[in-house]
Amino acid sequence: MRQARDVIREECEVLKMTDKQIKEIMCRLHNDLKKGLSRADHDKATVKCWITYIQDLPNGKERGKFLALDLGGTNFRVLIINLGENHFDMQSKIYAIPKHIMTGTGIALFDHIAECLANFMKEHGVYEERLALGFTFSFPLKQLGLTKGVLQRWTKGFSCSGVVGEDVVQGLKDAIARRGDVQIDICAILNDTTGTLMSCAWKNHNCKIGLIVGTGSNACYVEKTANCELFDGEPDKEELLINTEWGAFGDDGSLDFVRTEFDREVDVTSINPGKQIQEKMISGMYLGELVRLALVKFTRMGLLFGGQGSDLLFEGGSFYTKYVSEIESDKPGDFTSCMEVLEELGLSHASDADMAAVRYVCECVSRRAAHLVSAGIATLLNKMNEPRVTVGIDGSVYRFHPHFHTLMCEKIAQLVRPGLQFDLMLSEDGSGRGAALVAAVACREAEQGS
Ligand code: GLC
Repeated sequence: MRQARDVIREECEVLKMTDKQIKEIMCRLHNDLKKGLSRADHDKATVKCWITYIQDLPNGKERGKFLALDLGGTNFRVLIINLGENHFDMQSKIYAIPKHIMTGTGIALFDHIAECLANFMKEHGVYEERLALGFTFSFPLKQLGLTKGVLQRWTKGFSCSGVVGEDVVQGLKDAIARRGDVQIDICAILNDTTGTLMSCAWKNHNCKIGLIVGTGSNACYVEKTANCELFDGEPDKEELLINTEWGAFGDDGSLDFVRTEFDREVDVTSINPGKQIQEKMISGMYLGELVRLALVKFTRMGLLFGGQGSDLLFEGGSFYTKYVSEIESDKPGDFTSCMEVLEELGLSHASDADMAAVRYVCECVSRRAAHLVSAGIATLLNKMNEPRVTVGIDGSVYRFHPHFHTLMCEKIAQLVRPGLQFDLMLSEDGSGRGAALVAAVACREAEQGS
């Protein structure tokens, strides 16, 4: 009789992508990026490639106090940054966004944000001051300017009513006005990928790609203006920053050839079925659930835990993505974290063989995610065709998973055109600090212009 271990390994084969499949994915993504940029195809493109209006990098001469908001991951943060000569200091506070606000009305969401902002300003002694603010809003936005962005769709578990199709900056301005107590100038709205790129570019001038592998997944990159057919601003800029919104890659079925029953299940039980297909194979909001679904299947097949699951194992969302990082952080042959996780899930009857199998499933799911991200980054690097590019990266999966970085380095090296060099750089607090820097640059320019 075949051993449970071998059957599980065989079942997990569907989570492996062959080199041929990865090459095919790169080819499809490349075509989708071109469609997103093209005037003729943009409307029906799945990967939208939105033009951002962030064009100038910080030059180190920005001074003063700036506020930033960071909305779009698991947490909502407010920050204050004081930029001085050769140094800056930054304080921030995390606020929860309760589930009922994530799925309630847009008005309630913006009122909540404005309230947190006002409380933060009180606590930091700047309640009476008039301050500039940069707003990191990490959802697909059609930008019409640095301070105007129309929400295209919600992602990552948000679904506030009355915001899609509306200008988000106006929504926040209205909420601040409804309170009437604080004085804030919103100088810029940006995506977390662009914030990450900006804050890395501050130190490293080769940084031309910003990547997030966190609750969601997305990338932005520097593209030649000549390729951005929808750009109708100042033609003197040779390059533009493009927010690809690659999380939506696959929404037209182009990833179906590598998707599994677990991916389909994650999708149909999500609040946005059929949308953000690639994101659902990569990001922190879904990786744990993919693992859980595989474990449930193997338990039902009698291959795991002596066929005996637990209530929690059978409950959607109970296997957090941080568990994947914890389990894979155990040294080979050691199952300390794995045992802790399984105990939390009511599976303390797991044997060593079960724990080895659980770890194997985690590895397959996270490796596939790292390979998909690598395929995306290699596609961008090949498209940009520059000798050396730094990728600025942020997000909980990249930051906390013990092997994600190494997996990406290896895979990208294999996929990128020979001769092209790349570096992967962890961003120090990308999206928050990036927003403040963008606001600072915008203010510098407004002052120069006046
Ligand atoms: C989702 C959002 C995107 C964001 C990404 C990472 O894909 O649509 O705007 O950059 O998550 O947070």
